[in-house]
Amino acid sequence: MIKTRLSKNAKKIDRFLLTFLNKQEKSLLLYPMKYGVISGGKKIRSTIILNAGKLFNVKEKKLINVCAAVECIHSYSLIHDDLPCMDNDNIRRGKLATHKKFGEATAVLAGNSLLTLAFELITDKNYQIKTSQKNELIKSLAECSGHTGIAGGQQLDLKFENKRKNINQIIDMQKKKTGKLFNFCLTAVAIVSERDEKDKFFLGNLGEDIGLLFQLADDFLDVKGAKEVVGKPLKKDKKKGKSTLINLMGYGKAFLFANSLKRKILLKLKKHGTNANDLIETIEFILGRNF
Ligand code: IPE
Ligand code: IPE
Ligand code: MG
Ligand code: MG
Ligand code: MG
Repeated sequence: MIKTRLSKNAKKIDRFLLTFLNKQEKSLLLYPMKYGVISGGKKIRSTIILNAGKLFNVKEKKLINVCAAVECIHSYSLIHDDLPCMDNDNIRRGKLATHKKFGEATAVLAGNSLLTLAFELITDKNYQIKTSQKNELIKSLAECSGHTGIAGGQQLDLKFENKRKNINQIIDMQKKKTGKLFNFCLTAVAIVSERDEKDKFFLGNLGEDIGLLFQLADDFLDVKGAKEVVGKPLKKDKKKGKSTLINLMGYGKAFLFANSLKRKILLKLKKHGTNANDLIETIEFILGRNF
């Protein structure tokens, strides 16, 4: 069952992160960082990394640092996303947002520290992959997180508020703010399993499409979800004037678009046969989810 797999994976990543952090020198930011990244969240990105690893028989040990790194970047982006200068939301993962719990300055700094922790996780000496692969992972993760990825996408998301944007502009923004980190998830599997450049590109794009599907589903949840189940404030995108496909074309048409995107993604996985079963199950969950 997907929910069991998700929570088992979440616990595994949490344990890994906790062990990693506890080996580091203590600091005042440690607790807010743990608050932001551990015990909360679906950890779906790391589940996707491990699912994609199965396409090429990559061992979990070779991917767990990448999983933890991605979750750090993701959690950093959420801590900052909730700040008053961005989406101004007070609840995240069923508890107070980091800035509500610890104050804005601490939230900014804990977010920054999670961003850099991601790179410590990849360069860790106990992570046994080739140095050249680590270099490649770092380059890709930096590109997917910075101005050509999450940060750039978040900037567009905010600039697009209360503006009429066309479908291509909205998709470009969503692919950056959310898709790029999923692009990294699959690119990372391609790097670790030593695929050629063509495969890396193919898998990266596939990841980006999965990420776009994930953001579309998040936008659907904002309209139709239950906030106790989702664990964050809902029905806010419209109020904030966010540029989403729903606000552009209506819920029904946006859902049809998402469904055809899902079919396109699944078609691309056909060639992997039963090795893709777990990844397919996760993709089905993404669009059908209620949290
Ligand atoms: C929420 O991400 C923000 C988006 C990019 C849509 P998740 O739904 O993965 O958040 P958590 O980690 O499970 O809380
Ligand atoms: C956030 O998108 C995307 C990020 C990269 C942080 P949203 O602003 O829609 O995410 P939620 O709904 O607050 O989780
Ligand atoms: Mg946002
Ligand atoms: Mg938000
Ligand atoms: Mg949202």
